[in-house]
Amino acid sequence: MFSVPALAAGDGVVLMQSGANISDQASLQRGAQLYFNYCGSCHSLEYMRYSRMAKDLGLTEEQTMKYLNFTSAKFGETVVAAMPAGLGEDAVGGEDWFGKAPPDLSLIARARQNGPNYIYSYLLSFYPDPTRPSGWNNTVFPNASMPHVLWDRQGIQSLRAADEHGEDSHGHAGPTFDLVKPGTRSPEEYRQDARDITAFLQYVGEPAALDREKYGIWVILYLLLFTGVAYLLKLEYWKDVH
Ligand code: HEC
Repeated sequence: MFSVPALAAGDGVVLMQSGANISDQASLQRGAQLYFNYCGSCHSLEYMRYSRMAKDLGLTEEQTMKYLNFTSAKFGETVVAAMPAGLGEDAVGGEDWFGKAPPDLSLIARARQNGPNYIYSYLLSFYPDPTRPSGWNNTVFPNASMPHVLWDRQGIQSLRAADEHGEDSHGHAGPTFDLVKPGTRSPEEYRQDARDITAFLQYVGEPAALDREKYGIWVILYLLLFTGVAYLLKLEYWKDVH
């Protein structure tokens, strides 16, 4: 059982802190791998090129094309969904299957309020719901038509009924889940999976943020150095004044 700690969320949805860190390259690499294995069949990243991603994530062209690209796209091209929407009934990602076309996720981390926390919480908030066509529902995105594609990793968690104050019997605000069937990952490992995917989508939403963090260090070092020089200069100017 775990309960969801409340965060100030604008529209009443309780979000969790993602803890995602885009300057952690290993996390971005794991996130990319999970993304392309579990999400890339349905969702495109139409503003991201494989080549740019490879450079930013420290991957070779060969690694990228072998482990991350399951389409016929070339290295210099943008990331399309492996199974594009609208291919008809047999297309897993097709509109016919879920009633909704899977949206492009290039900008999702910026398009949603608290984007990274939203993605992270969404990936942790699926529960089985036999009334839904996909068999799944989600407390962060109620009635989402996306199935819980990571259920083999997380396992299956059921949603505890809340009372009329939105609290469960233990007085927790926000939804509480019980893990009824463990997945291949422990709860902590699964949270790391969700954090890695979140970091990856946050990076995709603003690749330049990586450069900013990199240059930020140099700007601060420069300012420190400059302060030191200015101080020495001051000592020099004032040394004969009494
Ligand atoms: C089988 C196809 C499919 C797969 C695989 C899939 N999704 Fe989705 N996803 C959808 C569909 C369809 C929607 C639209 C849901 C709706 O609007 O009801 C969606 C919606 C979303 C949204 C919400 C977008 C919004 O508007 O707020 C996010 C975030 C998301 N998916 C992330 C992921 C991630 C991360 C993965 C991989 C772990 C993934 N999806 C795998 C089909 C898929």
